[in-house]
Amino acid sequence: MKTRVLMVCLGNICRSPLAEGILKSKVDPNTIIVDSAGTAGYHIGNPPDTRSIAVAKKYGIDISDQVCRKFSPKDFDTYDIIYAMDKDNYQNIIQLSTKSEHTNKVRLLLSEIDGNEQEVPDPYYGGTDGFEQIFQMIDTACDHIVNRI
Ligand code: 4NP
Repeated sequence: MKTRVLMVCLGNICRSPLAEGILKSKVDPNTIIVDSAGTAGYHIGNPPDTRSIAVAKKYGIDISDQVCRKFSPKDFDTYDIIYAMDKDNYQNIIQLSTKSEHTNKVRLLLSEIDGNEQEVPDPYYGGTDGFEQIFQMIDTACDHIVNRI
């Protein structure tokens, strides 16, 4: 049986494209399907932020062909697990849910590490250091996801 995982942030150009690329790099694509989306529509159709592309490339992961899309309520049916990068994204997703079966699919990504409600901070207005830091956070969380699924 396939497990479908959706990574969600605000813009779908910085954090969730990295999360998609990192998790994809660790799993069998025949077993685990990974996609990403944003709760806002500012960048629909765009590739990931150049700083996310660069940090992924540094670790041998190519995310340059990803295309930004907006989260849709239909995603609740398509995906088994929906990971939010931060609490605002979590709330934005939950607000679109109409049933507990859907709400229960949504988790904070970093809670996979130790159960705590940590957030992947928004790196958009910061420097490249922030992208290195979020890469490491997301990478650790994805290791835990792989062990769990
Ligand atoms: P992301 O980062 O949610 O990790 O993709 C952001 C990207 C764009 C904006 C905000 C956050 N923006 O305001 O355009």
